Amino acid sequence: MTTLVAAEAAATPVAGQPVVRPATAADDAFVEDLQAIAFGPGRFARTAFRVRERFPIDPSLSLISEVEGTPSGSVWMTPISVGGMKGYLLGPLATHPNFRKRGAGKLLAREVSKRALARGEGHFVLLVGDQDYYCPLGWVPTTPGNIQFPGPVDTSRVLLLADDPNLAKTLKGSIAAFDEGE
Ligand SMILES: CC(C)(COP(=O)(O)OP(=O)(O)OC[C@H]1O[C@@H](n2cnc3c(N)ncnc32)[C@H](O)[C@@H]1OP(=O)(O)O)[C@@H](O)C(=O)NCCC(=O)NCCS
Repeated sequence: MTTLVAAEAAATPVAGQPVVRPATAADDAFVEDLQAIAFGPGRFARTAFRVRERFPIDPSLSLISEVEGTPSGSVWMTPISVGGMKGYLLGPLATHPNFRKRGAGKLLAREVSKRALARGEGHFVLLVGDQDYYCPLGWVPTTPGNIQFPGPVDTSRVLLLADDPNLAKTLKGSIAAFDEGE
């Protein structure tokens, strides 16, 4: 197989398998419903939600997964800084119950992180989530208590993805605006 043929094969959707694309305004109702289904009414009290209240998401990093043209999942990214370093907070990540266990969640997490870090401005992707889900994708636990959120978090769920393998241990400070970092 030539390189070109291989690249085309890799880009061709496989029946029943999710692909990702940028979200548009036409996806807003789907995303709102999905987040309500996935996180319930308690979502507005979550600490990650409080971060997004203070610092806006970057809509150009909102992605949708779809299966044969039907939206199946969504992820958002919030540019932030911690301890003077620019990065991103990933979430919410959700896949519609009808489309789970097809790889959409992992595809969205990987793809949005790749696109954000490729901009060359942010140095990490932070999230609050399950180690069993995210650590196989490259996220690692941070030093408990080092990263301060605007509300309570289970510190064992504060995970970081970065090229620098030491950053998860050393990154320290409160979550602040993207512009406050370098
Ligand atoms: C978590 C979620 C996004 C996964 O979406 P998905 O598209 O089904 O994920 P994938 O297909 O990429 O991965 C599915 C695998 O992850 C596993 N998995 C799902 N949630 C998990 C979790 N919290 N911890 C560990 N493993 C998990 C599934 O059992 C499945 O395992 P398998 O492949 O061995 O069958 C989806 O279940 C969801 O929307 N949940 C509610 C919202 C939520 O919890 N979001 C994450 C917040 S951090």
